Amino acid sequence: MTTPPERAAAFGPGRVNLIGEHTDYNGGLALPFAISDGVTVRAQRLSDPHVQAAATDLGERDEFPLHEPPAAEGWRAFVRGAVAELQRDGVELPGARIEISGTVPRGGGLSSSAAMEVALALALVALAGAPEPDRVALARMCSRVETRWVGAQTGLLDQLASLCGREHHALRIDFRSLEVTPVSLQLGGHHLVTLDSGEQHAHAGSGYNQRRRECEEACRRLGLDSLSEASVREARTLPAPLAQRTEHVISENGRVEEAVAALAGEDLPRLGELLNASHASLRDHYEISTPAVEEAVARLRAAGAIGARIIGGGFGGNVLGLLPGDAAAPGGAIEVRPGPGAHLLSSA
Ligand code: GLA
Repeated sequence: MTTPPERAAAFGPGRVNLIGEHTDYNGGLALPFAISDGVTVRAQRLSDPHVQAAATDLGERDEFPLHEPPAAEGWRAFVRGAVAELQRDGVELPGARIEISGTVPRGGGLSSSAAMEVALALALVALAGAPEPDRVALARMCSRVETRWVGAQTGLLDQLASLCGREHHALRIDFRSLEVTPVSLQLGGHHLVTLDSGEQHAHAGSGYNQRRRECEEACRRLGLDSLSEASVREARTLPAPLAQRTEHVISENGRVEEAVAALAGEDLPRLGELLNASHASLRDHYEISTPAVEEAVARLRAAGAIGARIIGGGFGGNVLGLLPGDAAAPGGAIEVRPGPGAHLLSSA
């Protein structure tokens, strides 16, 4: 075994989900891509068994024992969770000083949480001198940080997008098999932008967990393991709002397949229609939009977007717009393109 390093650093990107929302925890399909903004974690070995962490952008610090860290709130829950869950998976971590900094807005629907979990995991595994687990196993570990330590019952979308991202590509993810297939993202002169609705969200406290419970209840009533197995006929036997939630999942899976076909055929108008249909379903059937989100979508459409929709968990955050090359994006919009997935940084 090689000598473990004194320092290690890693970058985890945020993500934009092109289409396929609230399908991950329903065994369905999604088409996200990693973006160039993300979180950087720098870790340095300490000789005693404790962890000192600093969130540079917030000017906050934390300190806790390496073994069995106690629970905490906010960003501290992510760090303590990553340290605990990696050890639970058998990674022998040393004491460490950790510095976290990032460029993804928090609570903006661009997956700042997964970016942080993923960067923490890669940097700490490298600092331990342990072999890197496969990326699906790492995504599962990061997801446990959210479910056990942060209290957000999220799926694997964000972690897989961050860990498996590829330049110039979106990722078709099948959450039943966890198969990840890169799909070339050629936009034929169009561009994708995100626009902040100005409303922050936190999955643990929003309607996200409630949506998840509703889907579980719908599955239970239909006797299915996942809602993606339901038919439209079965969905219609359910009471409101379970019928609407199920219809969203079924139709959204179909839109992901159609979006992959539209991209292959360079049919951008069709892709725009699919983004609009996804938004309508998330607003009317899944009921995760808000007035601020609707206003941001309307601003994108007024600027000429051929497709615009809410992205991520919902109840605020950023919206996504697909604009023709000659359309000027509204003020505050930021262009997004697929960047590389999470990686170690050589200059630790
Ligand atoms: C959040 C969650 C993901 C996924 C999306 C909705 O981003 O973290 O797991 O459920 O919402 O598609």
